[in-house]
Amino acid sequence: MDAPIIKTALPGPNAKALIERDRRVVSPSYTRDYPFVMARGAGAVVEDVDGNLFLDCAAGIAVNSTGHSHPDVVAAIIDQSQKFLHMSGTDFYYEPQVRLAEEFNAVAPLSGDTRSFFSNSGAEAIEAAIKLARYATGRYGMVGFLGSFHGRTMGALSLTSSKAFQRRGFGPMQAGAFHAPYGNCYRCPVGLKPESCQAECLDFLEHQLLVHLISPDEVAGVVVEPIQGEGGYVVPKPQFHQRLRDITRNHGILLIADEVQSGMGRTGRMFAIEHFDVEPDMVAVAKGVASGLPLGVTTARAAVMSWPPGSHASTFGGNPVSCAAALKTIELLKASLMQNAADVGAYLLGRLKELQLKHPIVGDVRGKGLMIGIELVRDRVTKERAVTERDAVVDACFQRGLLVLGAGKNAIRISPPLVLTKAQASTAVEIIDAALGSLPVAGAVR
Ligand SMILES: Cc1ncc(COP(=O)(O)O)c(C=O)c1O
Repeated sequence: MDAPIIKTALPGPNAKALIERDRRVVSPSYTRDYPFVMARGAGAVVEDVDGNLFLDCAAGIAVNSTGHSHPDVVAAIIDQSQKFLHMSGTDFYYEPQVRLAEEFNAVAPLSGDTRSFFSNSGAEAIEAAIKLARYATGRYGMVGFLGSFHGRTMGALSLTSSKAFQRRGFGPMQAGAFHAPYGNCYRCPVGLKPESCQAECLDFLEHQLLVHLISPDEVAGVVVEPIQGEGGYVVPKPQFHQRLRDITRNHGILLIADEVQSGMGRTGRMFAIEHFDVEPDMVAVAKGVASGLPLGVTTARAAVMSWPPGSHASTFGGNPVSCAAALKTIELLKASLMQNAADVGAYLLGRLKELQLKHPIVGDVRGKGLMIGIELVRDRVTKERAVTERDAVVDACFQRGLLVLGAGKNAIRISPPLVLTKAQASTAVEIIDAALGSLPVAGAVR
């Protein structure tokens, strides 16, 4: 399908009618940035209920890794569905779950043998990681990073610190959850220049948090997004992850990579942490792992994942149909899509950096593979966040037939299916260019 092709005013009449029905009966807690109502999709193109075609650079929040309804994934789903839909890997055995654990043993960025725990979502993959870290170490403390997103269940939410309203009204959080500044070089938390970075942002963790707030021998784990997703697609310097690995290793603290958004080929490597030459102790994935079916996976070194029967489980986790979709997804990623993410991602990043030269409001363009963030600022010196302008650009993209999402307060996230072609990437850049050009105020002045 060629996209975009917009035939109606947006939202069209059918979209409007469905949104009205939704408004009456669906939880209002969901964040809907703009009124897109899905009818069907193929590859990186989606069609709404009024027959409008959009280029999809959101992928259902970085989920449709192999594109919408990839025929091989659909065939794997149908094949498994005809055999059985559910048998609960908690109580019984089935091959797709074992095979997927074997696959993770092969691809996980952990040396030696691994074991995997299966759940249904990113939040659950993080809950499992938190519980396992506590169980394996006999310690209670957990550390996350400011700006991070790890999910909405109470354990994951306690480590989440992306936006205060995600926590507002739900306190108190889980005891023993602490936060430290993240390695955001565009907004260095300690006011230094990226050129001379020695990951000084981790001084707070090492010399304040672990000295004044909790003794390191009571910290079970540190959960870190290799590239911060929801917080604004922030890419730290390798020094950040390397120093974090040193600190955690020195204190016997487990390092947990939250690869829910950054993992499964999105950055051009199977796991984003691989870009930083760091080996974590545990890795959590969800989102793109099964191309759109619900699945969470928490993988740890075998010696770490040695909890006894009954200590943790999930009725639906590791559903056989989701496992079949994940096995096919990994096969496709390895065959070509991870490489495509690297190639088309590099091209897209380069083209978006050209927009930075043209539009003063573009303060920073960063990313790896097809995980790219564009941060908008009102002034390149003060870096005042262009919050309303970002929302306006996201909406202007939608009106022009491109789906993108916001990330953080003032960044645009580009997270397309990994099947995106160079031609589609080029179309996306042209639309973003036009959307930026449509801002009523010229934007940043310096
Ligand atoms: C890095 C990260 N971790 C965890 C989660 C939670 O995943 P889920 O929404 O599937 O619970 C998300 C979701 O956006 C995420 O981006």
